[in-house]
Amino acid sequence: MNANGQGDRARLDQWMAQRVLQVEEALQSLLVGSEVEPVALHSAIRWAALGAGKRIRACMVYAAAHACHRTPDLALQQALNRAACAVELIHAYSLIHDDLPCMDDDPVRRGRPATHVQFGEAIALLAGDAMQPLAFEWLSEMPVAPALVVQAVRTLAAAIGSQGMAGGQAVDLLSTGQVLDQEALAQMHAKKTGSLLSASAQLGAIVVGASSQQRAALRAYSEAIGLAFQVVDDVLDATADSAQLGKTAGKDAQAEKATYVGLLGVDGAKSLAQDLHRSANDAIVTFGRHGEYLRALADFIVQRSY
Ligand code: IPE
Ligand code: IPE
Ligand code: MG
Ligand code: MG
Ligand code: MG
Repeated sequence: MNANGQGDRARLDQWMAQRVLQVEEALQSLLVGSEVEPVALHSAIRWAALGAGKRIRACMVYAAAHACHRTPDLALQQALNRAACAVELIHAYSLIHDDLPCMDDDPVRRGRPATHVQFGEAIALLAGDAMQPLAFEWLSEMPVAPALVVQAVRTLAAAIGSQGMAGGQAVDLLSTGQVLDQEALAQMHAKKTGSLLSASAQLGAIVVGASSQQRAALRAYSEAIGLAFQVVDDVLDATADSAQLGKTAGKDAQAEKATYVGLLGVDGAKSLAQDLHRSANDAIVTFGRHGEYLRALADFIVQRSY
């Protein structure tokens, strides 16, 4: 790679690192302090939401907004921060519940005890309960036209309900021990993981008033990269170690989960992730150079090692 190319990579990495800081600062200031009663509940929420996550969904909000509208003013920045915090909060709640003994029974998350290990199952469950409405409260506070707030609320609600993330999680649990065909597995992954990533891109677009063509391009991109994300998660579960992942490796095979590694093997799953990566990038050529952060995010999702 030439000097210019290397500079580009460093600039994109820096952009992502800055967005991670931006959403973490916003989360810090929006979340209720852990000294507020009930102290255990607020501490559990902060534990789950402020742990060392990669913040991919927040970056998706910012990258999609950038692709559609390059220079958001202060009000739009505030709206994007709330949208980014909302999707990270929903994601963090989903991780609390995913780790519970009645689901994946995983005691470690983001390199430290899972929320139910640290605070007990009941408080962990309630933290998840409280995080869901809080995410929508934050969306309702976005300083944008009320019609856009409604669209954002509807988009996130649809993505995480029984036909989205929660539905996908149900299929994941009900399919344990079974062999799903590629179509059924794609459906399950699209719901449990892809739908929130897609909603994140759509929220970024909604906030900046994107056109329907822009939103369609983002839909195609995020569906492909959302599936790639979970394919890579399945590969990492089988190939990385727990210290690297910050969660228990090898759990999918142990629990007889339906995964892409189970269906296609590690190499087959990796090559599918590459195909999906290409499809994602093809879908956003229309954004030209404004799509650079979306491309950087897609690269990160497919090339990550944790
Ligand atoms: C893990 O998501 C859960 C899945 C949807 C596979 P991430 O890998 O994005 O988790 P964090 O936020 O970085 O901890
Ligand atoms: C989790 O999928 C998906 C959601 C939390 C919605 P996984 O069960 O594969 O996630 P990890 O591997 O525990 O992070
Ligand atoms: Mg799971
Ligand atoms: Mg899990
Ligand atoms: Mg996994």
